[in-house]
Amino acid sequence: MLRTLILYATTEGHTAKIVQRIAQRLQTLGHAVETHRADAVPSGMDPSAYDGIIIGSSIHYGHHPGYFRALVRRHRAVLTARPSAFFSVSLSAGGPGAKPEAAQRYLETFLHQVNWHPLQAVTFAGALQYSKYGTFKRSLMRMIVGMAGGDTDMSRDYTYTDWGAVDRFADGFAGQFKQT
Ligand SMILES: Cc1cc2nc3c(=O)[nH]c(=O)nc-3n(C[C@H](O)[C@H](O)[C@H](O)COP(=O)(O)O)c2cc1C
Repeated sequence: MLRTLILYATTEGHTAKIVQRIAQRLQTLGHAVETHRADAVPSGMDPSAYDGIIIGSSIHYGHHPGYFRALVRRHRAVLTARPSAFFSVSLSAGGPGAKPEAAQRYLETFLHQVNWHPLQAVTFAGALQYSKYGTFKRSLMRMIVGMAGGDTDMSRDYTYTDWGAVDRFADGFAGQFKQT
């Protein structure tokens, strides 16, 4: 059975939901999947013990988190030597007022910074979770989202992720093993 590791960074938890979806899909395709938050990786975790690795992170204030960049840099050799894939989650990637070119720029900047060139690198639309933000963040997000033409009703949360696209990403990752 192929062993797949997924390392991810999330702030409000939506990227974790995307990871769950990918993990479920890969499990139905016969993979054994292990997932870890990048800020809570168990000591002694060895990425080289896995057949393939998926890396994913959300964007806040125009960046993937610094600790996430450091983690990817640390394991770049292993990532390069195995089937691997990257996904970037943001509101720029989809939903009302999206700016796909900005989402693509976040992704490309990150891959350039960590000097990693995975076969698969995609952007996924994230979620707007007013219920999870504190007072300041709620107002800030409402203002930014409103200026972009997005959803400003703070009495509910919004999910813009295309789950079919997430499934296709997982299928593509599984397909990398057939090519090797
Ligand atoms: C404080 C804050 C800043 C954000 N900054 C950006 C940004 O600069 N560009 C963008 O496209 N999305 C931005 N987002 C949207 C997040 O990427 C999106 O909500 C994502 O789903 C968060 O995923 P997570 O819950 O896994 O952290 C921001 C969200 C918050 C709450």
